[in-house]
Amino acid sequence: MAEEWTSPGVDLHLELDPSGGRRDALERALRDAVRSGRLGPGAVVPSTRALAAQLGVSRGTVTAAYDQLIAEGYLTARQGAATRVAEIRSGLPSAEPGKPAPEGPPPGKPSPAPRPVWAGSWATAGTVAHDLRPGRPDLGTFPASAWLRSTRRVLTTAGPEAHALSDPRGRPELRDALAGYLRRVRGVDADPGRIVITSGYAQGLGLLARLLGDAGTSAVAMEEPGHPYHRMIVARAGLRVAPLPVDGLGARTDLPVDAGAVVLTPAHQYPSGATLAPDRRRAAAAWARDTGGLVVEDDYDGEFRYDRQPVGSLQGTAPGHVVYAGTASKTLAPALRLAWLVLPAALVEPVAEAKRLADAHTPSLGQLVLADLITGHAYDRHVRAARLRYRRRRDELVGALRRRAPHVRVLGVAAGLHALVLLPDGGPGEAEVMARAAARGLALQPLGEFWQRPDGRPQGLVVGYSTPLRSGYAAALDALCSVLRYKA
Ligand SMILES: Cc1ncc(COP(=O)(O)O)c(C=O)c1O
Repeated sequence: MAEEWTSPGVDLHLELDPSGGRRDALERALRDAVRSGRLGPGAVVPSTRALAAQLGVSRGTVTAAYDQLIAEGYLTARQGAATRVAEIRSGLPSAEPGKPAPEGPPPGKPSPAPRPVWAGSWATAGTVAHDLRPGRPDLGTFPASAWLRSTRRVLTTAGPEAHALSDPRGRPELRDALAGYLRRVRGVDADPGRIVITSGYAQGLGLLARLLGDAGTSAVAMEEPGHPYHRMIVARAGLRVAPLPVDGLGARTDLPVDAGAVVLTPAHQYPSGATLAPDRRRAAAAWARDTGGLVVEDDYDGEFRYDRQPVGSLQGTAPGHVVYAGTASKTLAPALRLAWLVLPAALVEPVAEAKRLADAHTPSLGQLVLADLITGHAYDRHVRAARLRYRRRRDELVGALRRRAPHVRVLGVAAGLHALVLLPDGGPGEAEVMARAAARGLALQPLGEFWQRPDGRPQGLVVGYSTPLRSGYAAALDALCSVLRYKA
């Protein structure tokens, strides 16, 4: 017989399917309740203790089910607050004033339930006057002239074949160019035949996650804190996301026994900014060799190292066991949707086939233009100039905080395009700083959004110093310092 419970807070009736495991049944029941709208956005779910008692299951079972739904984006958890149903962006068009509402589905054909989409702080209400959220480069310095020159060259020399469907791994011109560039700049063991071009790292991670699931992997270890969108992608492939704690030396590498893969950001942990310590790099590679597990190395901003030479790729030390993932989202622009995987030989065919089934291949024109930029060294020149600009911005951020908010700690500034700003105990916490920021039109991202299990975590902000245009940077820093003031 199905088990039932009623949540006192939200007046919700759930039925747990008795076939299969209890955790799976609870996850399914909660997912259905969110999708159907019976458990609405923002609704509080029962505490793990209360729910475990009501259902007669262990608290661990309920915690594991909640963790999974947090990773999938259905629920959100904040330290010291109840777990809630996430605010959901359905992606459906909303009616504009004065216009009729969009038509519903034809009778008898229910529309698919809206699925939650991770919006992070991008879904800010109100006007944004200053934007210090992480995740994008200074789009005002996109190398438009060089891009235009390369586009013209490609269109005048490539011939009609450039517009035909081609290899799902991507254009050979780009794979050749990238193999040389990645060997030279990032120490990657790269061969054009083992590269697959994807529409962003997000797609590459999704393809890998589905293949891992098909091959019997049940859990993937992911950094905690880490990118919530990437956790959702892995969870949506049906895999359990096992949180891998991070400290000042990067991710800990004592991996959970059931993990078949681990996703790491070794050069610049996202979002703490730590560099993976050499003994942990060795441990991750040894784990993969010994267990047959897979390491996915997300090298999202590896080109931007300021204090010394960039740390070479982990993949270069164990190319048969590590997938190297790079992207043009930080060096050029995220809207290009151009990224690359350098794969162990055994994974090339399965990934290429998965890519072909997903979307045939990433659009050729962008690939050919990027290949031309790389081979003509305009890409190197752009990255070098960007590195100088971002380093200057980093120095300005650190200087301004030292002078005007000396109570905060700034971490992770040796590389990348963001800094971790830790808020001290006793001063304004994340919620208060976010409220002050909203009042000034300053968009920030709280550290809490990066945690799968937020209990006991520090309070802080992840500050993207590459996001504002140059002309607005000083004003954005001024707004930041003023919302961080100790006394209200
Ligand atoms: C940690 C991390 N990895 C990878 C990426 C790149 O993702 P994509 O190539 O899908 O834009 C980002 C965002 O730019 C990121 O923050």
